[in-house]
Amino acid sequence: MSKAIPVIAIDGPSASGKGTVAQQVARILGFHFLDSGALYRLVALASFAGAQQHSEAELATLARELDARFDGDRIILENKDVTDALREESCGRHASVVAAIPAVRASLLARQRAFRREPGLVADGRDMGTVVFPDAGLKVFLTASAEERARRRYKQLIEKGMDANLPSLLRDLEERDRRDMARSSAPLVAAADALMVDSSKLGADQVVELVLGEWRKKQNRVL
Ligand code: DC
Repeated sequence: MSKAIPVIAIDGPSASGKGTVAQQVARILGFHFLDSGALYRLVALASFAGAQQHSEAELATLARELDARFDGDRIILENKDVTDALREESCGRHASVVAAIPAVRASLLARQRAFRREPGLVADGRDMGTVVFPDAGLKVFLTASAEERARRRYKQLIEKGMDANLPSLLRDLEERDRRDMARSSAPLVAAADALMVDSSKLGADQVVELVLGEWRKKQNRVL
């Protein structure tokens, strides 16, 4: 029964640090890890191939039939390593657009739930605690001010030797936040029972400790 398999859901806006935190928590607990944003980014990337515009129904089919796999920290689309292409800002921006289409979200639902395997899963995204795993044992909603998130994204890009412009990153993040929060299907919103964590003044390690502490508390209560 997959419902008995524990899930920790970590949701929040772009660049809130949830990916880093979710990955570390998963590694420490020996759990599987789902980067659900990567699935939306894959749909966006796959839709760039060819010059034609896709209808919503075509994008939903693309999402359902996505020939993608996660191989350690690499992401493979149709036998091609697309890990770096997925992290591009243009891909994130377009992912947020395709993610607003209800049929695309529906196409990705079963694929996301299939990540729930023994001994457990840490899932990161926007609707992990509200829609995909509403029965998650722990739900965390990670936020940080838009300015702080833009600064972090800027640092990441510069460290990778990529071009970056702070004001345009901030504008982009704010636009994505607006779109992710305003859509009618599974908008970015904290689950009523989520633990709210503002990471503006916390390092990733401190947030990881906080999440693990909360998880252990919950486990002790169950035992
Ligand atoms: O987490 P990310 O930046 O890789 O996500 C890219 C986009 O995908 C994000 O702007 C909104 C969308 N997304 C979503 O709608 N639901 C999720 N569970 C994860 C991501």
